[in-house]
Amino acid sequence: MSMRKLLPALYHSDREGRLSPETRVIAMSRGGLTDADFRGKVDAEVRDGSESRRVRDEVPAGDAAAWERFLARLHHVSVDVGREDKSGWDALSGMLSGFESRDRVFYLASPPRTFGPFCRELAEAGLVMPRSRVVLEKPLGHDLASAQAINDEVGAIFEERQIFRIDHYLGKETVQNLLVLRFANAFLEPVWNSLWIDHVQITAAETVGTPGRRGYYDHAGALRDMVQNHLLQLLTLTAMEPPARNDREAIRDEKVKVLQALRPIAGTEADRFTVRGQYVAAGDMPGYLDEPGSTPPTEASARVETFTAIRAEIKNWRWAGVPFYLRTGKRMPYRRSEIVVQFKDVPHSIFPGGAPNRLVLRLQPEEGIELHIMAKEPGAGEVTLKPVPMSLSFGKTFTTRVPEAYERLLSDVLAGNPTLFMRRDEVEAAWRWIDPILDAWKADPALPEAYPAGTTGPAGANELLGRSGRAWHEEEL
Ligand code: BG6
Repeated sequence: MSMRKLLPALYHSDREGRLSPETRVIAMSRGGLTDADFRGKVDAEVRDGSESRRVRDEVPAGDAAAWERFLARLHHVSVDVGREDKSGWDALSGMLSGFESRDRVFYLASPPRTFGPFCRELAEAGLVMPRSRVVLEKPLGHDLASAQAINDEVGAIFEERQIFRIDHYLGKETVQNLLVLRFANAFLEPVWNSLWIDHVQITAAETVGTPGRRGYYDHAGALRDMVQNHLLQLLTLTAMEPPARNDREAIRDEKVKVLQALRPIAGTEADRFTVRGQYVAAGDMPGYLDEPGSTPPTEASARVETFTAIRAEIKNWRWAGVPFYLRTGKRMPYRRSEIVVQFKDVPHSIFPGGAPNRLVLRLQPEEGIELHIMAKEPGAGEVTLKPVPMSLSFGKTFTTRVPEAYERLLSDVLAGNPTLFMRRDEVEAAWRWIDPILDAWKADPALPEAYPAGTTGPAGANELLGRSGRAWHEEEL
């Protein structure tokens, strides 16, 4: 996480002048590294790492100075939480002394069970100040009870205004653009409801599998890893009522109301409203159970879903009767995250053919918005209809570099703005909806449906929509 996302994001912020000259980045681990070791590691893995060219292509000769300046900001202290030896905390105190009135951000990119103990030790070392903030990486717990316990433990040390629960999907440009599209344009709001919208599809499809992640993934699965946070966040932003102000509480208040209005899916209903799948080997791609992992597969591995599709319903005036279909999976044939709003068909058609309008908000790979409308194909004779996209590509329209989600979010933490972070009640409301689905799956002796790696998921996912005559948006493959 640090090497893949955080350090590149900080580097870009630095290069673009958003870090003050005195900002220091102090990495904490059990690693026993010196500053020089750590800088060398970052230089090798972040700049020159072969696995992904994270910033290498973006550090042209002229920017080598910016890279060196960034490296010089980096430090390392070795801290082992839960040990008698407090020398690491003493070292950190020494480094921070004299800066008590400055902003301090503690970013916890460690397993959630360490959040509480870490915050306690931080407080015991006297390092928590009024201008300190803590960032918690997902997953926040593995169910409602564990999320509440973590929130209580962290809440005993930090006030809610100091706690930033990160969901990197909220930092993606299209997600923020969704709010602008909905609330800075007049034409959409009158049709943004069950009178005009047939259903909504939210997809986060990935081509990657889970190599090396079995230890985490066996206990997470797609529902906890992607739906509880990313997909539900997209759902709330799509469905929420217009907030009165663009501020931290007004927006989050409206999002929580959507989560609270989700119809619970419990017991045998899970059979009708949810689908679980697990990829199996196909071509040269291994199955989930054959992926190289830090731990060998167990019984739990066989039950883990690497794909899930859910039919969610929001029980309120605006959305009654409009299904929100959520879908996410590993080893799908494409990498694509999008929200598809499918409008109803015309009430009376005077032309043959035709298809309902669709608004597609694409988060990745190419961020943009497309409105699929019906047009007449040029030609004399019979009118022939064809759906054509009116499209806005952010990359083509705006020439400025699109910042990575983490860059935007880290800047917000530094500025003390939590609007794009999950509030305690939001996280807990999301778990409250997820828990009964987890319970239903646990009670079900059936294993997830198999789907060959590289395909769009198990047959059940198509049936979920097919039952009501609908289909997943699979254009332009
Ligand atoms: C993370 C999940 O939160 O999001 C990963 O833990 C997933 O399993 C990743 O691959 C997807 O993020 P993105 O930005 O690539 O869609």
